[in-house]
Amino acid sequence: MANAVYKTITVKPISPMLGAEIEGVDLSQPLSNAQFDDIHTAFLKHHVIFFRDQTLTPEQHLAFGRRWGTLNVHPYVKSMAGYPEILEIIKEPTEKINFGGGWHSDMSFLEVPALGSILHAIEVPEVGGDTLFASQYGAWDALSPGLQKTLEGLRAIHSAAEEYGSGGASSKKRASMDSEVVGDEVPEYEHPVVRTHPETGRKGLYINPAFTLRFAGWSKKESRPLLDYLFEVCRREVYTCRFRWRPGSIAMWDNRCVWHYALNDYHGQRRHMRRVTVNGDQVR
Ligand code: SIN
Repeated sequence: MANAVYKTITVKPISPMLGAEIEGVDLSQPLSNAQFDDIHTAFLKHHVIFFRDQTLTPEQHLAFGRRWGTLNVHPYVKSMAGYPEILEIIKEPTEKINFGGGWHSDMSFLEVPALGSILHAIEVPEVGGDTLFASQYGAWDALSPGLQKTLEGLRAIHSAAEEYGSGGASSKKRASMDSEVVGDEVPEYEHPVVRTHPETGRKGLYINPAFTLRFAGWSKKESRPLLDYLFEVCRREVYTCRFRWRPGSIAMWDNRCVWHYALNDYHGQRRHMRRVTVNGDQVR
């Protein structure tokens, strides 16, 4: 993959660690197998890929998503009317809190988390509202062999409790996005701390500040110092890239090896995105 050759698209990396802009494809049209194979290769190589000037109806957005797998229906956030597999991510000029405004990996709180997310910009602020991405392969590669060995034996507990549970962030925010507050009944799932990517075979850390509560078999208090150290490594600037949106931009990221963070620096302006989330497989 180091020297991928593309037959149908042009791929321009935006940083050495992750992120590439793809040119030469109209995602509103059905993709040939050759086009899909090229996009798939770029996705695995760069972990988050970007497209500009795309105009997709909800149906075309869903059709692109279905090329990658089955689609997720968010268990806690209300979908776009008539489209259960599309999340409308909206922040109105009057609101202060955004959706996704902290480092996370989508849906790690499920038993079978997401493969990828495809975010389409409908309306974006004049300036601000960029999204940051961080490579979890990079974070893993940075650790000492001793710590890597320790982590390979660990599993972690993930849950949406701190976001969607009673008293969670979503219980007090976002008039424009309806989230269900699920009381104290939020399920917990256990995943390995070190994930082997099912397609590339590369190892990466699979924990995140939004949804990872503790190591399995450890208390919250015992887990905190090591989690905090790892989170600091996971978001080091050298493993990140930053995407500046325009209306019609699309980002697709690989939740199996990438964190993302929606910056909330545009109070008073409107931001409207649509997200389709592709289901993944059991974390191994
Ligand atoms: C998200 O899916 O977490 C939102 C990302 C964004 O709005 O930039």
